[in-house]
Amino acid sequence: MTERRASGGILRRWESILPLTDATPRISLGEGSTPLVRAAHIAGDCGLDELWFKLESCNPSGSFKDRGMVVAVAKALEAGAKAIMCASTGNTSASAAAYAAHCGIGCYVLVPGGGNVAAGKMAQAIAYGSKIIEIEGNFDDALNAARALTAKHPVALVNSVNPHRIEGQKTAAFEICETLGDAPDVLAIPVGNAGNITAYWKGFGECAELGRATLHPRMFGFQAAGAAPLVLGKPVAKPNTVATAIRIGNPASWQGAVAARDESSGLIESVTDEEILEAYALLARREGLFVEPASAASVAGLLKLARAGRGHGGRAVAILTGNGLKDPDTALAQYIPDVTKSDSTVAGIEKALGW
Ligand code: F0G
Repeated sequence: MTERRASGGILRRWESILPLTDATPRISLGEGSTPLVRAAHIAGDCGLDELWFKLESCNPSGSFKDRGMVVAVAKALEAGAKAIMCASTGNTSASAAAYAAHCGIGCYVLVPGGGNVAAGKMAQAIAYGSKIIEIEGNFDDALNAARALTAKHPVALVNSVNPHRIEGQKTAAFEICETLGDAPDVLAIPVGNAGNITAYWKGFGECAELGRATLHPRMFGFQAAGAAPLVLGKPVAKPNTVATAIRIGNPASWQGAVAARDESSGLIESVTDEEILEAYALLARREGLFVEPASAASVAGLLKLARAGRGHGGRAVAILTGNGLKDPDTALAQYIPDVTKSDSTVAGIEKALGW
């Protein structure tokens, strides 16, 4: 059904597994049905026989958030909401702002101050026309405030504490099982507020129940070392990492992440900023995949395990959660730009190329 794949979005494509009623508007920005691409070069480095990348960066606002947001916003509209609110490290706000614009409702976003939201994500929230409040505090403070504000005012909260977000995000697990013909042996995923690992685990469980998979993958979650509350077993008061998307000290879906890890015989470990940036460069330069730093955490984790002699073998899927264009500053700081100036003549360009 190429027609549905082309423009239907997940509410139509995954209607049967989502909490929709006849009254739920089937809104869509064309989210979901993202590519699953096989690694060309780095599977062996990651200690795997097969490595696949789920390109969630190909969603309409450039991250996986759109899968959950479309459901959360549709359900909010069904309930009569006129406005939505979220706290965000940048991608949730970009996604919320996009769907609010699409549906003609208001959007309020609370973001951490101190330059901790990547430039591309701020540009999106601005362009889509949301009301942006930059707070003195981090993501955890923003989420606490968003919960309190939406309890007090008639505005729908669309963070992943909203169960409709988890429902929407679980559709990616269904897509993976559909494309591979079964669940993979390992699912590698970055973990911040822990909604996504919770959603994938729910999705894979439902795939098995519905006979769409025979396996349950082992869930491998990776946090940034400076923001690794689930690894440490306690909240981190002042989280810090170059991967600003996952700069979170007290994940809302803590229990969901721990359940995914334990029920799947998986793990949640940390990777340093150095390891994240190494994987970030490797993905771009050896695979042709420009992702944002948080997304590289999943591959950084696989590389780290392999180097420690703990490579899993078998088939893994790594979730590439967000587009590299969202954080141009990290790219420009990471590389020494290989740009040579030249006049516009053939001879001048040959000289610049050293030909
Ligand atoms: N990768 C990216 C690109 C993200 O933006 C996030 C979370 C994650 C991974 C982690 O997912 O929170 O479900 O464990 N971003 C949120 C936001 C917090 O506000 O955009 P998670």
